[in-house]
Amino acid sequence: MPSGWGVFISFEGPDGSGKSTQVRKLAEALSRLGYDVATASEPGGTAIGRRIREIILDTRSAGLHGVTEFLLFAADRAQDVHEVILPALRAGRVVLADRFVDSSLAYQAHGLGMDLDSVLSANRIATDGLRPDLTLLLDIDVAEGVARAKGRSHGDRIEERMLEFHQRVRDAYHQMAAAEPDRFRVIDVTGKPAESVHEEVLAQVLDFLAARGVERRRSGRVQEERKGGPACHAHHGDPGAAGGHKEA
Ligand code: TYD
Repeated sequence: MPSGWGVFISFEGPDGSGKSTQVRKLAEALSRLGYDVATASEPGGTAIGRRIREIILDTRSAGLHGVTEFLLFAADRAQDVHEVILPALRAGRVVLADRFVDSSLAYQAHGLGMDLDSVLSANRIATDGLRPDLTLLLDIDVAEGVARAKGRSHGDRIEERMLEFHQRVRDAYHQMAAAEPDRFRVIDVTGKPAESVHEEVLAQVLDFLAARGVERRRSGRVQEERKGGPACHAHHGDPGAAGGHKEA
């Protein structure tokens, strides 16, 4: 990777595992500590992605074929990669992504039974081969996760799928984490309040950033407090030394 390239950290987990809350809390905490942070999310992290998200998740899209579904997720991801993630990595930032390719492997390949190689090759095109340096898997009992997800909205098209589907998704995540222990860190969130999950997430990420030798911008806290602005998309400091890599 070119020098000055950032660090790419993804968050994964079954529905209702609280990824979005954890990404937000982590972005705030890292920014306060002086790291240069950017956030991304899928599906729907860009203006174009939000239109794609609507098609995928709307319960009126009942006739959406599995192939169409996975291509739409890949299209949303392509936009996210090129519009948000790659520019932030090029600028040397710590990028926190709420879901990435592993979601398609868990939900479309293992959950829906789509052909694994097809899902992988469509995603290779979408991401230009970009892979996370670190993936935090927020693991949750599926019944609790689906109940939590449904509690905060009126169930979307994917949340409405049978519990067996969500169990396959969770099992797939476990398999992926076991196959790539260097990339994955698994955090059990079942029954835990968001604040205690945040402490675990922050400890794991700080440990990873320290091991990578990623530097903080010393003035981060002062500048952030003066601005009083949002924690992310706000810094342009010293780039981290190590970071994101691509598939061979
Ligand atoms: P998300 O907004 O992350 O929902 P939640 O916070 O409830 O996890 O994702 C919406 C749904 O899209 C969720 O059920 C997971 C699903 N999804 C896939 O099936 N494949 C994918 O590639 C992605 C990114 C998400």
